[in-house]
Amino acid sequence: MDKIKEPSMYSTRDLSYDFLGIHFENPFILAAAPSTDNLDMVRRAFRAGWAGAILKTTSVEGTKVDLCYPMMSSFDHEGRKLFGMGNIDLISEHHIDKVEYNVRMLKKEFPHKMVAASIMAGRKEDWQSLVERLEKTGVDMIECSFSCPQGNIGEDPGKMLAQSISATELTARWVKEATKKIPISIKITPHVTDIVEVARAVKRSGCDALTASNSIQALMGIDIRSFAPNPNLGGKSTYSGMTGPAIKPITLRTIAEIARNVDISILGTGGASNWSDAVEFMAVGAGVVEFCTVVMHYGFRVITDLKSGMSHYLDEMRFSSPKDIVRKALPNLAMHDELPRRTVRSHIDKKLCIGCEVCYIACQDGGHMAIDRGSNRIPDVDQEKCVGCGLCQHVCPVDSCIGMQVAA
Ligand SMILES: Cc1cc2nc3c(=O)[nH]c(=O)nc-3n(C[C@H](O)[C@H](O)[C@H](O)COP(=O)(O)O)c2cc1C
Repeated sequence: MDKIKEPSMYSTRDLSYDFLGIHFENPFILAAAPSTDNLDMVRRAFRAGWAGAILKTTSVEGTKVDLCYPMMSSFDHEGRKLFGMGNIDLISEHHIDKVEYNVRMLKKEFPHKMVAASIMAGRKEDWQSLVERLEKTGVDMIECSFSCPQGNIGEDPGKMLAQSISATELTARWVKEATKKIPISIKITPHVTDIVEVARAVKRSGCDALTASNSIQALMGIDIRSFAPNPNLGGKSTYSGMTGPAIKPITLRTIAEIARNVDISILGTGGASNWSDAVEFMAVGAGVVEFCTVVMHYGFRVITDLKSGMSHYLDEMRFSSPKDIVRKALPNLAMHDELPRRTVRSHIDKKLCIGCEVCYIACQDGGHMAIDRGSNRIPDVDQEKCVGCGLCQHVCPVDSCIGMQVAA
């Protein structure tokens, strides 16, 4: 019987390229998370088309991993579930011996996929032994978690390693010292005063890349009758690491700020849900993009849309490889005092307006009282009062109905 052909809307072109000396089938890989903590799950992900996976963070044998449940919670927004996802998970309960086995199996069964391990330790000898043991498995890359939102293992538990410039540099040096062969990426947190200083510390250590960035520490909600925070563990809770669409703008800024200032490779993670989010991460400096929450929500099959969307985008933009996207937006980022000062005014396309008056209300109570009701609920912009702030454009439910025009 003939093999069933993929419908052309899902067709993909060659998306492969090299990054960090590793061949990637496409720019999409799985981030360290529950989806990469089980051999069979990673096998299914690879068969579905993911280019690679960072196996969930592991540690040396004997490290206590004391999980509590339930660990997940949701930040729902206006009817959308998991706009932000919270977790109080820790690193994997599987120690390095299990991860060594998993890497070996995956490299044997899927030699063309990128298999990386994520590690965390407290002492120098443990960091180095994790790296040395992994090197022998044929692992393609090692990611070091310096940014678990529940804190670090070792001398300063509760605090993230990447919140200290000196500890970041010292620990990254230990890790790099332990291997000449395997590229090392340090996974950092955006919870710092100056992300560029952290990136510079990693660069000085000799490590190859940064993974930017981990989840955002968050309090996911409070039950207003019992006053129990989320997730509710018998009335008690703690701060979660928040992931998913809600954190995408924070990640974009973090990647961009590193890429503008430090010459180091970047793996983007934190809030990417579709191919166009990945394009944005790459346009500000990411070489590949890691996904977690969207996969936990919708499954490994989202890779079909990621690959197809990226293929069509590359065709449309006449780019020959996903690599062509990297850093494309950086020349357009400027400091506030370098921005053009122009006179702009709101313009409402009356043919598209549905008369909902959302722009009128927003402008009256949050703008410059420049939008009047007009006749038949079709609003008018008072050109004298309008300063062109742009609020009306963003509250309008109709795409392209309101735009900002540069005044003559
Ligand atoms: C339940 C859960 C467990 C996670 N465990 C780890 C981990 O062990 N190590 C790590 O570096 N990141 C871990 N992460 C963070 C993810 O790797 C990823 O950086 C984060 O979810 C942001 O990406 P996203 O918005 O695509 O989910 C975890 C995330 C979730 C949701």
